[in-house]
Amino acid sequence: MRILVTGGAGFIGSHINVQALEMGHEVVVIDNLSHGTRENVPAGARFVYGDILSPESWVDQVGPVDAVIHLAAQISVAASESDPLTDLRLNLEGTLRMLAVAKTLGASQFRTASSAAVYGNVDQLPLREDGPAWPISFYGWSKYTAEQYVKHFADLNHMQAIIFRLANVYGPRQRTQGEGGVVAVFCEALARNETVEIHGDGEQTRDFVYVGDVARAFLHRLADPGPVSVYNVSTQTRTSVRALFEMLARAAGVSSQSYRVGAKRPGDITDSLLSQHKAKLWGFEPITPLTDGLEATWHYFREKEAQR
Ligand SMILES: NC(=O)c1ccc[n+]([C@@H]2O[C@H](COP(=O)([O-])OP(=O)(O)OC[C@H]3O[C@@H](n4cnc5c(N)ncnc54)[C@H](O)[C@@H]3O)[C@@H](O)[C@H]2O)c1
Repeated sequence: MRILVTGGAGFIGSHINVQALEMGHEVVVIDNLSHGTRENVPAGARFVYGDILSPESWVDQVGPVDAVIHLAAQISVAASESDPLTDLRLNLEGTLRMLAVAKTLGASQFRTASSAAVYGNVDQLPLREDGPAWPISFYGWSKYTAEQYVKHFADLNHMQAIIFRLANVYGPRQRTQGEGGVVAVFCEALARNETVEIHGDGEQTRDFVYVGDVARAFLHRLADPGPVSVYNVSTQTRTSVRALFEMLARAAGVSSQSYRVGAKRPGDITDSLLSQHKAKLWGFEPITPLTDGLEATWHYFREKEAQR
């Protein structure tokens, strides 16, 4: 298949590019490099510089595609709270524009990244796709609203659309700045011999899913996606932030007591756990054990630090 990956120069996109090429797909990446890097686009993929808000300046360079994987977004919860209009433009208008691009380019499939942030503070764990969703940030609302636009657009245009609500994604190439994931932040600090800061008591739990598994989900059943649907991509396993640090400290060979306690971050939810049930019925399940994923991520950050 010929696949257009928006935001393909970013963290998750970089893994999708590699796997898609290995599967024999042709890959075209659109990215404005606001957060991504050219190195995240492998040699076998075509890179077209462009912004999702102005597709008229690049769409002619892409050519017909079979599928669009839409990842480009404003990804920071904090930035969405301070500048909800930019968040709305990128995450909602940007998604609608990419749906229109998919139609123009003849794509029969559209896949996009939503987030566990759409659930908000729902306390019935594990969180299910058919359960309540009441976001507590503009980011959560723009992602949730974009989901509805994708479903409606797909229905109107007989497009096959899949929306993935991603849990806490971690792995090589994740950024540590801004909304950087806790695994990346811990790995970087450990690689630099800096003291890791754990916010609050460290007993808050998250559902960590390896980026390689997330990439697999995006490429799963491309030939036979089934009806328009929303799927969680998660391991349905709770890991406390303190336990996560202990595992990384072991990998890095430092004491599991060598961390600093920081203030609990306002708005941080206590526990997050996403049901795997529906994704499993669709035939998808992550395969990377947390220990293996953390090992791979730690090696990546250690190497990166050594080359600095
Ligand atoms: N990483 C996670 O834990 C996580 C969790 C839930 C959802 N998601 C979603 O997954 C998607 C990918 O996230 P990521 O972690 O790879 O982020 P990322 O920032 O690494 O990648 C996003 C890419 O989009 C590009 N981009 C941003 N604005 C653009 C624009 N206007 N035009 C063109 N390109 C633009 C950036 O340059 C970057 O390369 C996002 O939609 C994000 O909301 C990520």
